[in-house]
Parts: sequence; structure tokens; C-alpha cells
Amino acid sequence: MSDTIPIQLTVNGRQRSLRVAPHHTLLDVLRDDLDLTGAKECCLVGECGACTVIVDGRTVDSCLVLAVEVDGASVTTVEGLARDGSLSPLQQAFLDRGAAQCGYCIPGQLMSAHALLETNPHPSLDDVQEGLAGNLCRCAGYQQIVDAVLAAADGADR
Ligand code: FES
Ligand code: FES
Repeated sequence: MSDTIPIQLTVNGRQRSLRVAPHHTLLDVLRDDLDLTGAKECCLVGECGACTVIVDGRTVDSCLVLAVEVDGASVTTVEGLARDGSLSPLQQAFLDRGAAQCGYCIPGQLMSAHALLETNPHPSLDDVQEGLAGNLCRCAGYQQIVDAVLAAADGADR
């Protein structure tokens, strides 16, 4: 334990205290220590956005952030979007629009879209495309993803 560092996080509203290796990323800790595997490992160099989560209200590539750097932060992952076992309206819009093909990029797309809609509830097409610019989709399902975000934005709540 001497080579680990204690940190505290609020993850999806729940306080978590844990010890982490100094070189472990937030993505490592979410997936391996907290069993939150929604954020995906892909490029690990900040290029694809598959690991996107929200830290203190801002999206981050969790593969690029050391866990010790976010000690004390509030983290939201895709697992934190659903409420009482029901998909969020944004998640439902992704489902309804067929936005998920292989699905690998979708948690990251959802987190970027969620963060966008929190700050800009009525985004334009350009706003959505810019908000999701850091999230790559290898299935090239961009049209359905953007449509889903715009559909969710038309809804009354998220
Ligand atoms: S896995 Fe983090 S940006 Fe690609
Ligand atoms: S749905 Fe397959 S990578 Fe986006």
C-alpha cells in the first residue's frame, strides 16, 4: 500500500474513497477499481473520445487524466445518466434513432452530448457537431448520433 495514494471522488453522486497507484489514470480507476466499464479504452492518447467522462461539469478524456489529479472531484460516467432504472431522455433518443451501431463510442458520445445540453439546452446543428467533435465513431454513425442529440434537445427535460 505504500506505493498508493489515497483519493476521494464523488462518482455518480456516490462518495468513494480509494487508494490508487500514482501512474493510474482516471479511466483505469473507473474501470478496474470501481467496475464502471462504460467509459471505454481505445486509443489511450486523447484522440477518440471513447473514454469521455464529466469531471466537475467539464468533459475530459479520462485516459489522459491521472486519478490523483482529480482527488476531491465530482465525476459523472455514463452509468450515472439513467435514473431509477430508466434511460435518460438523451439515452432514449440515441436508442430511438438507432444511434448505436457497434456501440463502442456511444458512452463517450453520450457524455459529450450530456455536457453540451447542460450548458446549451437548445443547440444548433453546428453546436452539436462542435460539441461532439472530439468523439470518433468508427461505424460512422454520425448522422444518427447528431439527430439523437437534436431530438433530445427538443424534449422538455433531460
Ligand atoms: S481512449 Fe481516451 S481518447 Fe481514446
Ligand atoms: S457505433 Fe461503432 S464506433 Fe460508434
